[in-house]
Amino acid sequence: MTTQRAVSIPIRRDESVDSLSDITAHWLATGDLPPELITGHKLIDFEHRFLVSAIANLRKVCIDHISFADCSGCRNDFRERCENQLIGMLGDVFSFILDHFKTEESIMRDSLMLMVDRDVCQAHMEDHAEIAAKVQEIVSSLDQLHVVSRIRELDQLLTRWITNHIALHDLLLSRWISREDSLLQGF
Ligand SMILES: [Fe+2]
Ligand SMILES: [Fe+2]
Repeated sequence: MTTQRAVSIPIRRDESVDSLSDITAHWLATGDLPPELITGHKLIDFEHRFLVSAIANLRKVCIDHISFADCSGCRNDFRERCENQLIGMLGDVFSFILDHFKTEESIMRDSLMLMVDRDVCQAHMEDHAEIAAKVQEIVSSLDQLHVVSRIRELDQLLTRWITNHIALHDLLLSRWISREDSLLQGF
């Protein structure tokens, strides 16, 4: 009985595009970030593109990450495959996070924003620490019966990161840098 679901339910990857967030749908249609999330800083934008592609790939792991309560209805080999894919993605996302946050935090220091606008930078770095801690929580609660729940949690975390963190913290940082650049051009 438990072996049926994995083979009888059609894979709905293409149809699921309709249910994706606007950002991911935009990514799948154009291969780029939506214009309102482009900071104008080449390295930061390049790294954010990785993040959106990670969400798009994550949504391809499970045949129905929206409705499955857990993985009990799938065959063992399917569960194992999903878990291995998720472990690989979590590894990539976690090392990306460490590099990306380091990039932004060194820009804060080098551009002197950290000295001039300390509270804003502090809030930005605290949000980085919170995102990293949540990814670690997901890694430490992995098990083969609940891979789909961890996929949903990672999806929500990455989507929140894109919609809230980039739109608030990263855009403030990039505005600071472009203001600094234009001030320097005046001399
Ligand atoms: Fe950031
Ligand atoms: Fe960022």
